[in-house]
Amino acid sequence: MRVTAFSACVLIMSLLEQVSGHTTIVGKYGETVEVPCNKGDIKLEDIIIVKWKYTKADGTTGDLLTKSKAQNASYSQIVEYQGRINLTKNLSLQISQAKIADQKTFTCMVVAGTDIFEYPVQVTIQKAPSPPTITNQAKVLELGKLTTLAECSTKDANPVANIVWLKDNVPLVADGKVVTITPSVQTDKDTSLSTTSSKLEYAATKADMNAKFTCAVQHKSLSSDLVSAPMTFIIHYPSEKVSLQVVSAVPIKEGDNVTLKCAADGNPPPTSYNFHIKEKVTRENSDTYTLIGVTRADSGEYKCSLVDDEAKTASTRFTVMYLDITSVPKGKIAKRLSESFEATLVVNASEIAQVSWTKNNVKLDGKPKFDKLKFSDSGVYECVVSMAGLVKKASFELSVQGAPVITKLTKGRSNVGKLLSCKAEGSPKPTVQWSINGTNASESSFVDGRVTYNLTVIPTGNLTINCTVSNELGYDTKSIDISTLLEETTMDKRELPEDSKDQTQVAVGVVIGLIVAAVAIELPEDSKDQTQVAVGVVIGLIVAAVAIGLAYWIYMKRTREGTWKTGEKENGTLEESKKLEETQSQKADV
Ligand SMILES: *[C@@H]1O[C@H](CO)[C@@H](O)[C@H](O)[C@H]1NC(C)=O
Ligand SMILES: *[C@@H]1O[C@H](CO)[C@@H](O)[C@H](O)[C@H]1NC(C)=O
Ligand SMILES: *[C@@H]1O[C@H](CO)[C@@H](O)[C@H](O)[C@H]1NC(C)=O
Ligand SMILES: *[C@@H]1O[C@H](CO)[C@@H](O)[C@H](O)[C@H]1NC(C)=O
Ligand SMILES: *[C@@H]1O[C@H](CO)[C@@H](O)[C@H](O)[C@H]1NC(C)=O
Ligand SMILES: *[C@@H]1O[C@H](CO)[C@@H](O)[C@H](O)[C@H]1NC(C)=O
Ligand SMILES: *[C@@H]1O[C@H](CO)[C@@H](O)[C@H](O)[C@H]1NC(C)=O
Ligand SMILES: *[C@@H]1O[C@H](CO)[C@@H](O)[C@H](O)[C@H]1NC(C)=O
Ligand SMILES: *[C@@H]1O[C@H](CO)[C@@H](O)[C@H](O)[C@H]1NC(C)=O
Ligand SMILES: *[C@@H]1O[C@H](CO)[C@@H](O)[C@H](O)[C@H]1NC(C)=O
Ligand SMILES: *[C@@H]1O[C@H](CO)[C@@H](O)[C@H](O)[C@H]1NC(C)=O
Repeated sequence: MRVTAFSACVLIMSLLEQVSGHTTIVGKYGETVEVPCNKGDIKLEDIIIVKWKYTKADGTTGDLLTKSKAQNASYSQIVEYQGRINLTKNLSLQISQAKIADQKTFTCMVVAGTDIFEYPVQVTIQKAPSPPTITNQAKVLELGKLTTLAECSTKDANPVANIVWLKDNVPLVADGKVVTITPSVQTDKDTSLSTTSSKLEYAATKADMNAKFTCAVQHKSLSSDLVSAPMTFIIHYPSEKVSLQVVSAVPIKEGDNVTLKCAADGNPPPTSYNFHIKEKVTRENSDTYTLIGVTRADSGEYKCSLVDDEAKTASTRFTVMYLDITSVPKGKIAKRLSESFEATLVVNASEIAQVSWTKNNVKLDGKPKFDKLKFSDSGVYECVVSMAGLVKKASFELSVQGAPVITKLTKGRSNVGKLLSCKAEGSPKPTVQWSINGTNASESSFVDGRVTYNLTVIPTGNLTINCTVSNELGYDTKSIDISTLLEETTMDKRELPEDSKDQTQVAVGVVIGLIVAAVAIELPEDSKDQTQVAVGVVIGLIVAAVAIGLAYWIYMKRTREGTWKTGEKENGTLEESKKLEETQSQKADV
């Protein structure tokens, strides 16, 4: 172990210099220094006496050891070197645990034959400095203000170590304004080793925000500098520019919440801002201000400023979109049949709005406009007006009212009797009154002012049944005849289409006519001889024809009784039916 340690301590005589006849060697602090005698160029066999002595700083000298040939070396009793020195075989002086105090001139004096030689060697002891340590490191730098960035120190060096400050690996040069470097050196009384410190004061610019500052320790004994970990600093600087923006999504509509955000370019950014919303509002620990539920009156310019420097302001503006609909009908609207009606709508919006109308949830082409209202025009009308995400709706229920009119009164066969069906039009919904008690009375749903009432009756003879429909605006009555007899047969024939019945009627008439004509043409030929007989035959034929015609007429009458049409009386012309309607409505108006 000892041997290994000794080998490791093999001396490196890094520099052998000849300074004014002196040889200089550099030893390492705490290790063994070997001081050679005449650079080892000694012929041992010639030597009679060898003596190592030293020269103190004050010029005085002292002996360390003396060795005569064939004798063991004798060591002087010097406290400072007690147990620390040895003489090697080649007469080198070994000094172990080298100290700074060992920086002296050691002289090897050799007596060889009659000559005396002196070989002085100057010994220098080096001690590498400790890695740099950083203290008093600043956290934050004020822009342009000379501030102590940090202090750097390195301990136990010999000779004195040098400290250099670098910014982004470029050495900083003290100029007394932006860079001030204050070095200091302290020497330990016991070890004579020196500690070097350096304080860096620096006036930062914004560009120094990410700069890396390092402290480098330079020393003779080091092949490369000892460099501290890089330091970065936060630089504080005041705001110069302020900006204000609308954070909320555009377009801004009435009812929206609008958030304004103020920002400034200082570091750190301000924590509070003034917002000028009608009057000044200071927001602590926030850079936003939200206007809740804006209206069109909130359109305009807004400002924000710095709390500590109100001259620094920014402004922005926004416009609030609005949409109003007015004059639109609402609720229930009652109108008389045949009146005119037009829905009104006034749109007041910040931009052109889209308008759409629906009736009973079905889209209409345009807005409701009627020259003559029909019952079927009744319904729920809704308009939807939209613009930039704003939607306004309005709806009304139009009710077209009028006295009821019976549009059809029919009879049909049912399982057990006759099914009467009375169709009426009118609004409000007409009620029905039958002139007969029946069963299974039913009514259809009331749609577009139309309703159908059914009634099943069991006729007990020939009857005329009235259907009367009425509401608060009037009434209408129609009657229908029903009979017990022949009904079944006529009903069976009702399948025969109307047209073919008419054709049959015509055909029979033609046949009768031909017979009468044939008789009439034959008459002149026989008139000479048997006029009377002929006249009798002709009369007979005419009577037969009349009888056939009469039978057919009865037949037709029966057939018509079974039709599905209203009433027994033939409907007649259009004019007649119109007259009828007029009388009915006149009745209704009464
Ligand atoms: C003296 O001798 C030792 C070996 O004993 C050797 O390592 C050393 O280099 C010699 N010194 C000189 C100056 O020759
Ligand atoms: C020199 O020292 C060694 C051991 O230290 C010893 O053995 C020897 O006798 C000494 N020689 C003389 C001449 O004193
Ligand atoms: C002197 O040298 C001897 C033999 O090499 C060694 O045992 C001893 O420890 C040395 N003394 C000093 C003070 O170096
Ligand atoms: C506006 O803000 C209020 C209060 O914070 C909130 O209740 C409301 O829902 C917001 N309105 C919208 C449209 O975000
Ligand atoms: C529309 O609304 C604006 C803002 O409320 C108002 O100034 C204007 O008079 C309105 N226009 C009409 C035609 O109602
Ligand atoms: C109808 O029935 C009611 C009682 O149910 C009776 O008073 C009324 O005379 C009946 N009317 C006819 C026309 O039969
Ligand atoms: C009345 O209607 C029911 C079924 O709805 C039917 O079974 C019944 O025969 C009907 N009665 C009459 C008199 O038509
Ligand atoms: C009334 O009678 C007609 C004809 O039989 C029928 O089509 C209709 O469904 C009936 N309506 C009601 C409400 O009973
Ligand atoms: C009903 O009318 C038919 C012809 O229309 C007639 O033959 C019948 O006798 C009448 N019945 C009664 C009870 O009046
Ligand atoms: C049926 O109506 C006619 C004409 O309106 C009326 O003269 C007659 O009395 C009504 N009959 C009944 C049973 O109400
Ligand atoms: C005549 O016929 C029309 C339809 O063609 C019908 O609306 C009207 O009620 C009928 N009138 C009578 C008296 O049957």
